Order: sequence, then C-alpha cells, then structure tokens
Amino acid sequence: MYTEKVIAEFTNPQNVGEIADADGVGEVGSPACGDIMRIYLKIEGDRIADVRFRTFGCGAAIASSSMATRMILGMSLAEAWAVSNADVVEALGGLPPAKVHCSVLARDAIRAAINDCRTRRGLEPWEVRSSGCSRGAGCDSHPENG
Ligand code: FES
Repeated sequence: MYTEKVIAEFTNPQNVGEIADADGVGEVGSPACGDIMRIYLKIEGDRIADVRFRTFGCGAAIASSSMATRMILGMSLAEAWAVSNADVVEALGGLPPAKVHCSVLARDAIRAAINDCRTRRGLEPWEVRSSGCSRGAGCDSHPENG
C-alpha cells in the first residue's frame, strides 16, 4: 500500500521534463524490472540550479524521481551525491519493500548525472560502489555501500 505522500507525488509530479542545455545527464535502468529513469542537471557555480526527469517506470519510480529532484534542487553536487535512497523513501513516508528499488533508481540516476557533470568538467567521476544486489547498484539495504 502506498502512503499519501507517494500518491500525492505520483499524481502531481514536480520537475518532469528535460533540459536542452543540461550540464549533466544520467540514465539508469533497473535490473529488477527494466524501468528507465533519466535525470537532467543544470549547474550554476556548484549548485543545482535546475533539475528535470523523465521516468519510464512505475508509480513509485515517478514518485521517487519527483521527490528526489525536489530534494536536490539548490544543493551542491556533493550534497546531492550524499542523498541516499533511504532519504528519498523517508521523505515519501515509506515504500513497500518490493518498491524500494524504485528509489534506488532515483539515487543512481542522480549520481550518474552528477558524474556526467564532473566528466564534462574534466574531473574524475566519483566512485559508485555496487553490491551486485538485484535491487540495483549500491542498494542502501547493504551497509557496505556508500
Ligand atoms: Fe521498477 Fe518501480 S517497479 S522502478
């Protein structure tokens, strides 16, 4: 069962769309379900000045994308990198266990977009540690993951 926050976020998602001159784009697919999420970042200084998403996936994935993009707007890239899927789940008031991977997708798409920003600037991408978990790379259900 979804929380009221998840339903509200899914029925009225924020930050849907694309950024034509994005400074970073990240796309990830979930190995668990095949859904795809794409995040676009516009950076001013070191701050996320705009963020948009396209999610081809379930309601929980759209709710996670919407919440995650609202959370990282205005953050530095380092702050946005530190946002975990558990943070997104908490902000949504919880997700059913079978839908936790949807929030992992949002976290991973944001990190992919951040690393795209860094690579375009000639910087080393930050390391993404993978657990090999079927819920997706770096699932926060595993304490060894950052
Ligand atoms: Fe795959 Fe939600 S069921 S992203």
